Amino acid sequence: MTHGWSVYVIFIVVLNVLGCAWLLYVNRKAKVKPGEAGEPVGHEFDGIKELNNPLPAWWTWLFVVTIIFAGIYLALYPGLGNFAGSLGWTSSGQWEGQVTDAKSQYGPIYARYFEQSIPDLLTEPAAIEMGGRLFANNCSACHGSDARGGAGYPNLTDDDWLYGGAPETIVQTITHGRNGMMPPMGGAIGGEPGIKQVAQYVLSLSGRPHDAKLAEQGKVHFTTICAACHRPEGTGNQAIGSPNLTDDIWLHGGRVTDIENQVRNGKNSKMPAHAEILEPEKIHLLALYVYSLSNSPGSGD
Ligand code: HEC
Ligand code: HEC
Repeated sequence: MTHGWSVYVIFIVVLNVLGCAWLLYVNRKAKVKPGEAGEPVGHEFDGIKELNNPLPAWWTWLFVVTIIFAGIYLALYPGLGNFAGSLGWTSSGQWEGQVTDAKSQYGPIYARYFEQSIPDLLTEPAAIEMGGRLFANNCSACHGSDARGGAGYPNLTDDDWLYGGAPETIVQTITHGRNGMMPPMGGAIGGEPGIKQVAQYVLSLSGRPHDAKLAEQGKVHFTTICAACHRPEGTGNQAIGSPNLTDDIWLHGGRVTDIENQVRNGKNSKMPAHAEILEPEKIHLLALYVYSLSNSPGSGD
């Protein structure tokens, strides 16, 4: 706040408090004349009459107390323009204090879990639960509160991975994010007829009903073009996050129109990096939680 605004705010605040005091004083002096006390003043509504009585003393004192309180409050806390108050309280200071408290309370717990490997922590339900709470706050908006994902957002509870389900791979995914990119492919496979053929071939890879003749023609496109990223068998490549097309688990849908659209338009899916917003200790617990969804204690990896 500039100096001018500060003076302006102080002026308004002081004027208000003094105004209240003045109002109170004036009303106290307005004495009720003897003989008029308790007489009706002529206002009546719904059977309720206004009588001419002085303000009750407790009422007046209540206001005196609030005015005194305002004076003390404004001396201790910020309220008068740029004056910080003699206690030096700030809302950001209070927040920082709470953060420090939380850190000293949870810091040792995070540190202890951070020292243990993720597979070892599978036997620590409290650690998994902490990871679950972090997941609810940071990840459920995209992956769902049950982590089962949805169209475009992978299911994290199955054992099917775009990038891999090893603990360190999951940590990597959460820390640095991922970017799954498939360019539009129509041009490379002869336009719409090619798209129709290759889509039938993709259907055949997971044993879905398909047109065998078109699939046979599509296979040629697949092995020359798509195999570069999805591998010749169509099992995908975790190094670039290209999905396995043979397991009948679909990121963008398994209907023929979904597959044709995927080939026609391509896709760019982003998993945001969390290195800037979450400490490594928290990412460790998040990875543990994700890992626990498809691994039970002792199963190893
Ligand atoms: C803004 C949406 C969004 C948020 C928030 C988000 N994710 Fe993701 N996540 C995605 C998308 C989209 C993908 C798939 C990326 C791709 O297709 O290449 C993904 C992929 C993943 C994968 C890889 C799955 C695999 O099969 O390899 C993991 C693990 C994961 N997310 C965990 C998390 C965790 C843990 C959090 C919370 C810290 C989180 N995500 C927050 C959108 C999100
Ligand atoms: C440059 C590498 C690349 C090429 C070439 C490529 N793809 Fe992909 N494809 C990917 C990636 C990466 C994804 C995942 C995109 C995402 O994360 O959203 C994907 C996703 C898909 C999907 C969606 C799978 C699902 O689970 O929903 C289909 C279907 C698919 N590709 C088919 C094809 C076909 C058919 C071709 C050949 C015409 C092809 N792709 C060529 C990289 C590629």
